[in-house]
Amino acid sequence: MENLFGWKSGSLVSFLILLTAYLYKRHADEVLQNRMDQILSGLLRAEKKVVLVENRVAFGFGGCEDVFADALHIVNKLNLTAPREPQHHMAVQNEGQLGELFAFFFQHGAAAERYVENNTLFDELVAFAETSPGYRNEVGGNAPVMARRMALEGKDVMLAARLTPDIAASLPKNVRVIGKPVTKSDIHLIMEYDKGEEWGQYQAPRANRLILHSDEVNPYLSGLEEFEQELRRFNPALVILGGLQMMDNFPYQDNERLSRLQKLQSVLKDLPSSSKVHFEMASFADTKLLREILDNVLLYSDSVGMNEQELPNLVTVLKDKDVSLVADSQPRVATVLDDMRMVYSYFKNVTLSNGRRRLTRLHVHTLAFQAILTTKLSSWKNTMSASAKAALTAHRHVCGSHHIDLMKTKVLLDDSFSASQDKTSRKIHLVDNRPVTCWEEDDYEICVAPGLVCTHIHQTAGGGDNISSAGLVLQI
Ligand SMILES: *[C@@H]1O[C@H](CO)[C@@H](O)[C@H](O)[C@H]1NC(C)=O
Ligand SMILES: *[C@@H]1O[C@H](CO)[C@@H](O)[C@H](O)[C@H]1NC(C)=O
Ligand SMILES: *[C@@H]1O[C@H](CO)[C@@H](O)[C@H](O)[C@H]1NC(C)=O
Ligand SMILES: *[C@@H]1O[C@H](CO)[C@@H](O)[C@H](O)[C@H]1NC(C)=O
Repeated sequence: MENLFGWKSGSLVSFLILLTAYLYKRHADEVLQNRMDQILSGLLRAEKKVVLVENRVAFGFGGCEDVFADALHIVNKLNLTAPREPQHHMAVQNEGQLGELFAFFFQHGAAAERYVENNTLFDELVAFAETSPGYRNEVGGNAPVMARRMALEGKDVMLAARLTPDIAASLPKNVRVIGKPVTKSDIHLIMEYDKGEEWGQYQAPRANRLILHSDEVNPYLSGLEEFEQELRRFNPALVILGGLQMMDNFPYQDNERLSRLQKLQSVLKDLPSSSKVHFEMASFADTKLLREILDNVLLYSDSVGMNEQELPNLVTVLKDKDVSLVADSQPRVATVLDDMRMVYSYFKNVTLSNGRRRLTRLHVHTLAFQAILTTKLSSWKNTMSASAKAALTAHRHVCGSHHIDLMKTKVLLDDSFSASQDKTSRKIHLVDNRPVTCWEEDDYEICVAPGLVCTHIHQTAGGGDNISSAGLVLQI
């Protein structure tokens, strides 16, 4: 079979294959780039469509100093070795438990927030954080972060929180802080890691963070009394509640925690129906606490916001099971929408007595997409634009820049997806130049916006708060 030109025709074939592959790849890259261009300009158009109305927004509760650091830097400073068996702990008492807890969430790339009971250990962690290359600190806590976002969007804002004078002064001028000042604020340690980082045998499937706190002020819903007094005069269009997960660390005496939540319930009941109530979920480890919040807060709310971990966390409690601790960090649209339908249906079935409100808005933020469900004929406006703004804000927050650079962007959502896990479910096709897809079902509307995933991560913590606020600002 020897042929004088054998080697030559062989390499010609290889050359042609390589050339085809190269041209094909270049073509595929161009198609992708073009798709992202269209999605971005579509989202920007949708965001700009709405003219903002002037109105007031009130926020509760809690505030702290967020300390950001590289998770692996801290773990290495502690000389922690990766445990053989990752394990969940409701609260951390020592280094060994910290290692097990960190591995538990890190291996899934799942966001979480837990209490450290050991003050010596917590102070040590904060000291190590200060030597981390990624160290920085900022005003933190769900309520202040959301309040700042709303204030930057031009709303008049009232914030119930006990902050240090420094932190209070760092907020925009249109934020009025009520609640007595404190001399030392609680610290939240945000241990961040990137996609693909390795610790022993574990590898993070996506970028995320573990938040540790050791709060002393926040668990008491500080500022609630002052909040109640001021609300009537302030007459907000929207009341936003967050930070309730800090009650995980409540000293369980004489049902004091429950009585604080009941006090909050009575404040919500006294609000006029023109003041809508939004509750921002968080990562709850304590099933009993989440049940108490369900009874005293969620049943008195018009809207709820959550991420892909917090949605299953809520669903399990509604199904009367213990809270789920980790869930898929990149769930399919169909799974998320089915869970949203379940939550919606649950609250729709609850009898509206005793000043309860009907949940008419659900916002779920995930890496790959934003989904907002609103009841038809409810007062929530502009769901399509709100979904677009939420998607853009997610990117801006994580990349740390208002301008969106497509070189730092990835779209994870396919160009078509199922609306439900049900086999007969319809397929939704994404139209690149009108990227937010909205449709009606039953007595509600659902909008899904593709996420522009930031590939050059600046920060992940506080993302949910910014995203939720950004969605709400266009809906009131
Ligand atoms: C970690 O190990 C190094 C080197 O053995 C030691 O100098 C350091 O004190 C240890 N750190 C802790 C927190 O034990
Ligand atoms: C608290 O943490 C310190 C520092 O890591 C440790 O020496 C101590 O044993 C811990 N206390 C308990 C009760 O686990
Ligand atoms: C709400 O009620 C409807 C009709 O009775 C029922 O089909 C549905 O399963 C209920 N939803 C939940 C979450 O219990
Ligand atoms: C998110 O909130 C933080 C804290 O309020 C703020 O510094 C940051 O600019 C916000 N990011 C976006 C994209 O709004």
